[in-house]
Amino acid sequence: MINRKVELFRGDIFYFTSSPLEDIHAYRYIPDGVLAVSEGKILATGSFVEMKKCFSDASVTDFSGKLLMPGFIDAHIHYPQSEIIGMYGRQLLDWLHEYTFPAETMFSSPEHADYIADFFVNELFRNGTTTCMAYATVHPESVNALFTAASQYNMCMLTGKMLMDRNAPEQLTDTVERGGTESRTLIEAWHNKGRNRYVITPRFAISCTDKQLSEAGRLHRDYPDTYIQTHLSENKSEIDQTLSLYPDCSDYLEVYERAGLVTERTVFGHCIHLSEAESHRLASAGAAIAHCPTSNLFLGSGLFNMREANRLGLQTTLATDVAGGTSFSMLRTMGEAYKVQQLNAYPMSPFESLYKCTLGSARVLKLEDEIGSFKEGCYADFIVVEDAVTPSQQIRKDCLQRTGKWDLENRIFGLQILGDDRNIAATYIEGKAVKFKFITRE
Ligand code: GUN
Ligand code: ZN
Repeated sequence: MINRKVELFRGDIFYFTSSPLEDIHAYRYIPDGVLAVSEGKILATGSFVEMKKCFSDASVTDFSGKLLMPGFIDAHIHYPQSEIIGMYGRQLLDWLHEYTFPAETMFSSPEHADYIADFFVNELFRNGTTTCMAYATVHPESVNALFTAASQYNMCMLTGKMLMDRNAPEQLTDTVERGGTESRTLIEAWHNKGRNRYVITPRFAISCTDKQLSEAGRLHRDYPDTYIQTHLSENKSEIDQTLSLYPDCSDYLEVYERAGLVTERTVFGHCIHLSEAESHRLASAGAAIAHCPTSNLFLGSGLFNMREANRLGLQTTLATDVAGGTSFSMLRTMGEAYKVQQLNAYPMSPFESLYKCTLGSARVLKLEDEIGSFKEGCYADFIVVEDAVTPSQQIRKDCLQRTGKWDLENRIFGLQILGDDRNIAATYIEGKAVKFKFITRE
């Protein structure tokens, strides 16, 4: 500890140590605590009184009364869709053609990609998200732009070039060969460079031929520590179209299985309409599901059943899926996840939701030794959260305090149901505060 500069951050410390589904007490909550940070990493957590004695020379940044917790991890989001958030009407396949593909076409311009990447990273930080697994577009420039923007802050970014060789406008399609070559070049350039990680990204079965999906599987075998992301069983028409494009497959998951894409490093978006057989196969492969409630409601896709997923031993995370999703805020996402699960008669606990946006997500991404908690040695990627920034939040807090019920569960649940970007007082990456910007095009 000698000669190392240590900084203390004072506040109410909260983080998970394991899954609340296995042990409801698997967290640490230290009211008036301290997060000790050195060289961008977590050194220790403890009570303010004790830690001040241990680190008497350390500077103290005082966030007394606010929650300090690990930054959110959004495991499924589309950065090129930032501009088309909240566009009216339509279900998935029409929405893709009407809004998404035109927006993604713009990324042949590196200037546009840089501008949106800068906007996107800033918007993540403003909402308290410190890591995400993002889709780019088919253009390699779009990947370069996002990794470059993230690298300016040393944030942990996972992304990759979209693979699409059919059923999309010509400007958005590649070929099996080009998709493979461009992906390899990007993997060599970015994967494991700093905190960047590459994600092999076939968009979904409708936009990829079986040859292209097989090429994606080959890429993963050649670079086994990359990730895979794609969409699965989001929308009924999507499922019908997929099965008619792949008549030899008995179900949607089999399309990806044949290509070697169902692995423990794969994150499947949505998975709302899986059969029980598909769920079992996903669980035994150790693949993960990103549940995206604001998107599923907005696009009318359906109600993901979290209770069933838990029962079958599936790994799940929560994610925004902007711009099918309608908010960058993981607090809003947790609020909508609660409502979706209410419709499944499963009033999901606020701890389960928060776990699936922090340590649970880190585990899905095999990054739990780096992010998602305040375990010693993890990166000091954390957020400062204010409980009451609106009159409704304040009056609720007053009521709970007056009646002696201002406990951790009520505190977190209030943030999930009423909170958003306004509750994020600060975001830190590697112990450094990120300055929020309001980005507009000149
Ligand atoms: N399925 C294939 N592409 C997309 C996309 O961009 N958004 C969503 N929500 N689903 C998809
Ligand atoms: Zn998506």
